[in-house]
Amino acid sequence: MSSESDLTTRLEWLRAEIRRHDRLYYVLDNPEITDAEYDRLYRELQDLEAANPELITRDSPTQRVSGEPLAAFGQVEHREAMLSLANARNEEELLAWYARTLRLLEQAGAREDALTCVVEPKIDGLAVSLLYENGVLVSGATRGNGVVGEDVTQNLRTINSVPLSFSGDGAVPSLIEVRGEVYLPLSAFERLNEQRVASGEATFANPRNAAAGSLRQLDPRVTALRPLAAWFYAVGAAEGVGWRTHWELLEWLAARGFRINPHVKRVGTGDEITRACREWEERRSALDYDIDGAVVKVDDRQLQDILGAVAHDPRWAIAYKFAPSTAQTVLREIGINVGRTGVLTPYAVLDPVSVGGVTVSQATLHNEDDIRRKDLRVGDTVIVQRAGDVIPQVVAPMTTLRKGGERPFVMPDRCPVCGTVVVRVPGEVAVRCPNDDCPARLVERIKHFVGRSAMDIEGVGEKLVERLFGLGLVRDAADLYRLRYEDLITLEGFQDRSTRKVLEAIEQSKRRGFARVLFALGIPHVGGQTAELIVTRFPSMDALRQAGVDELAAIEGIGPVIAEAVVAYVADPRHQDLLGRLADAGVLMQSADDLAPTTADGGMGGPVRVGAETLAGKVFVLTGTLPTLTREAATSLIRAAGGRVAGSVSRRTDYVVAGESPGSKLRKATELGVAVIDEDRLLALAAAGARASAGA
Ligand code: IVH
Repeated sequence: MSSESDLTTRLEWLRAEIRRHDRLYYVLDNPEITDAEYDRLYRELQDLEAANPELITRDSPTQRVSGEPLAAFGQVEHREAMLSLANARNEEELLAWYARTLRLLEQAGAREDALTCVVEPKIDGLAVSLLYENGVLVSGATRGNGVVGEDVTQNLRTINSVPLSFSGDGAVPSLIEVRGEVYLPLSAFERLNEQRVASGEATFANPRNAAAGSLRQLDPRVTALRPLAAWFYAVGAAEGVGWRTHWELLEWLAARGFRINPHVKRVGTGDEITRACREWEERRSALDYDIDGAVVKVDDRQLQDILGAVAHDPRWAIAYKFAPSTAQTVLREIGINVGRTGVLTPYAVLDPVSVGGVTVSQATLHNEDDIRRKDLRVGDTVIVQRAGDVIPQVVAPMTTLRKGGERPFVMPDRCPVCGTVVVRVPGEVAVRCPNDDCPARLVERIKHFVGRSAMDIEGVGEKLVERLFGLGLVRDAADLYRLRYEDLITLEGFQDRSTRKVLEAIEQSKRRGFARVLFALGIPHVGGQTAELIVTRFPSMDALRQAGVDELAAIEGIGPVIAEAVVAYVADPRHQDLLGRLADAGVLMQSADDLAPTTADGGMGGPVRVGAETLAGKVFVLTGTLPTLTREAATSLIRAAGGRVAGSVSRRTDYVVAGESPGSKLRKATELGVAVIDEDRLLALAAAGARASAGA
């Protein structure tokens, strides 16, 4: 770098560019560059900042995770109170609110025939308020009691969809409180709980609790590991800026990098409002986040002021709450499941009851302490709840309905499946069956192996695993690969086609790659992310066999407990036998990325060519379930060939790769005339590209 000012210019350019790509990726779900290109920019910025620490700015993209763990959270007084919302429990109440609002406006002399409103999702997360001074994030807080909240600035900074600074057309406001909801995507919630089960930690009851637990971490490094996200929907105090309508406000925020929900709608009549709310209710199960209703807001901000607030609720907005997802029923029995790691988990056997439109007859009960804390007794009338797509839960007993015959729960002292005396691990709430060969544990291990985030063997579900195990056809994961046509076709419900499909799915699972295998084995403490971390350093089973505890523990994110568990697992002769049989069956024991075509120079070289066509720079969008490739494998394949994978379809998309049950992306592709290909075509393109570049 020739001079100080060149250096400053480069730093500023890098920051602006990284911010732009962050926004494309995290806010607009439409990346323009590959991860590798992004990493290069990021690393250059990190290196320049490391060499010139005096030039680091607080809003630099490298400064998301910073600061020491706190002893306690401070308090923040909101400049403008954070209000809550009145509820409408059904369409009648919603229309009554609309009529009342029109009447109030008429009385105030602001006669309107129709009232434009904005309908938004009611995100079931945590409300937060971000304070920006001159476009720079200076503090962030939870709602608290609406007047004073907790200072969670350090943690909010780690969330990629929270802008650390913003600018845009026109003057930057000297001060603005931007408000929104922090949440944990459902997919991330499930992954997080899977990891916690794997590492023997208590699971979170629902995504909201998980988000709250993650945001209220005293150590921001822990928060940074949780993929929290945020939607923004309001402002509090604002100086030096104003908007005529709520819609304009949302557009203004969007233009400054705040993530605004793409399905937000502006409507003009009572009918349209109820229809938009119903649309949200229908869309609900397809979303990757929990919503518990829709929020309807009067669009015109002047009318909002006229309407004002009563107590803590603005009169210009209302929350339309979806049909309650709680119900009352009787707790008939408490059963016990024995999990893969031997943990005994009680579950509730309920009189079937409809909860939010779904019939529920079982619910989780977590553990003995939880049952005692809630004072649940067999025979109690209980309240059952379903949150989003998450497993039903027993919330509480209705103690006033007790008749005296209800029985408290006692944890058995022997495994209900194999009869081995259970052990209580000191310091843990869980009780375990210590028998490694307990049939329940064997079956659960196989179920885990075939599961979606493990080897993803479609058609081999929990029921089939239980049948195959019961028949003695499959005793462990490796036996799956020895199944023959004759074994399956005789099973009830199996025809020629279904048998072939299952065998094909088993065959295809051999190519998932080493990270999946490592996770699928069910090694204690090794969740999906941990497996990926291990594979970055030890990309094959051969490499991992040579690894010592210290080498494993040297990987960032892998502690000594995990390292020891992995080494112990691999060293166990019984596991060696299993691994040997998996390898003999043809299960790939190396990184799936190694399957992707590489260029002739063996790596980062020139673009892969397909005849006259090159995959390099082509933009792909994936939709639906591909027959053999997982989403990650397809992504690596495309990236290895120099292509890009984007999240949504636009005119700039070159190919949509569609699998089974494709989403709206396929429709969009057809509308825009974007080429739609299947997995075979994708593989053929990539393979042809690899051949062309190898021969070139
Ligand atoms: S507006 C003055 N919009 O719901 C209006 N709130 O019950 C203040 N929420 O504390 C809130 N999604 O945590 C608004 N699109 C949305 C929302 C939303 C979720 C939450 C928010 C608020 C609570 C009120």
